Amino acid sequence: MSILITEGYEEMSKKAALMVAAQVTIRPSSVLGLATGSTPEGMYKELVAMYKQGEIDFSDVKTFNLDEYYPIEERNPQSYAYYMKKNLFDHININPQEVHIPNGTAKDVETSCEVYDKMIEAAGGIDLQVLGIGNNGHIGFNEPDVHFEAGTHLVELDEETIEANARFFSRIEDVPKRAISMGIRTIMHSKKIVLLASGASKGKVIREMLFGEVTPNLPASILLLHNDVTLILDREASVYVT
Ligand code: F6R
Repeated sequence: MSILITEGYEEMSKKAALMVAAQVTIRPSSVLGLATGSTPEGMYKELVAMYKQGEIDFSDVKTFNLDEYYPIEERNPQSYAYYMKKNLFDHININPQEVHIPNGTAKDVETSCEVYDKMIEAAGGIDLQVLGIGNNGHIGFNEPDVHFEAGTHLVELDEETIEANARFFSRIEDVPKRAISMGIRTIMHSKKIVLLASGASKGKVIREMLFGEVTPNLPASILLLHNDVTLILDREASVYVT
């Protein structure tokens, strides 16, 4: 695992965007795994700016997002589909047919999850997976559990996750209690992974991930077993590891 420590959020975001840009430049038909939440917003801003400068071409790129609330309509401003359009897809030349997000309105969730995994497989797997990390150690919405969930699946969100995500909603009661998440197998099969963490609130979980045991009780700990993970932290998120 490589660990890059940056001064602040902006530098973290720039470095992450450069990694994505390098991936897409080296392999224009790259398959990107994408995350939502506060952490990658700056990275998306940088990528849009680089695209506008003519520095990246997304026309051949495919994307698969990690997760989506369930149930939720795409047009709901709280959905991750909406977030991705607002922060990235509406501003770049990606082919909308090549953008994939778990279906928040699927009637048959199980089949929809299986289809999602098959599509990732058919695309040749993920070349570069961008991850954030929850305060409880979740990646995607793989919450602490007694076992790792392999494939895309429906998740009951932890109280802690619901509380953390309440900042995006007017009332905590409005935060969906369930979500669909890519599983650990797909994340671990990604050729490269970059995990971003910013701010003091992430310091403790980053330390636990790096120095604790590999356990489904802290899902991000499994990344220690992957051979190409880059951790980009800002100073505050790295306080316990430096
Ligand atoms: C979202 C996702 C989550 C977030 C995590 C951190 O697609 O996969 O695992 O990365 O909850 O969220 P923020 O960045 O808002 O602190």
